[in-house]
Amino acid sequence: MLKADPNAGAYYICSPNNPTGTLTPLEDIAWLADNKPAGSVIIVDEAYIHFSNAPSAISLVKQGKDVIVLRTFSKMFAMAGLRLGLSFARPDLHKRMMRYDGPNMISMLNIVALAAGAVSLAQTDAIKARRDEMIAARSMTFDHLAKRKIRVVPGSAANMFLVDWKKPAAQMKTAFAARKIEIGRNWDIWPTMSRVTVGSMTEMEAFCAALDQILA
Ligand SMILES: Cc1ncc(COP(=O)(O)O)c(C=O)c1O
Repeated sequence: MLKADPNAGAYYICSPNNPTGTLTPLEDIAWLADNKPAGSVIIVDEAYIHFSNAPSAISLVKQGKDVIVLRTFSKMFAMAGLRLGLSFARPDLHKRMMRYDGPNMISMLNIVALAAGAVSLAQTDAIKARRDEMIAARSMTFDHLAKRKIRVVPGSAANMFLVDWKKPAAQMKTAFAARKIEIGRNWDIWPTMSRVTVGSMTEMEAFCAALDQILA
């Protein structure tokens, strides 16, 4: 990223990444923090970090680096409709970040979202249980796909993965939909790949069964 633009104002890193689920090692983010141009900011989007066991870039914030870490309640906490997130940064970076309408936006936060968010944050057991359930469902799905010789982008640490059907992804999406299974998006630049969200074990078993019907 630094090579691509040695003078960027901001470097955005999403880890685990969407839609691959892959991680950017914390050492690489720390390296960027030490080698980026002065005055620029690194934004680390940790929307999916609860699904992984990866270390957070919050440690770099604690070290006083030019790093802003973003979190959301939209994923693990299933609160996407409530529009709540939080950030970790040095006070001067937060001030820069909020200079447009930030303080006004904060005073208009939805009370239900605040209450639900505050309760969710303390539920470490529930976070672990959801992570464990998702990992089990993802492993089961990966095993099934491997048996069918279908490749996924390896290394997902999140509740989604990219699968390469080796045939038009739009057709696969339609074939799944005909069996009442909604898989995720596909993109023109990767015509044979789909993003699949990992649901419950029951949902992923239904996904695997539908896949077998489609292949047959
Ligand atoms: C990487 C990433 N960051 C942030 C978001 C959205 O977060 P929010 O719902 O808090 O705007 C998403 C959701 O699609 C996402 O994939």
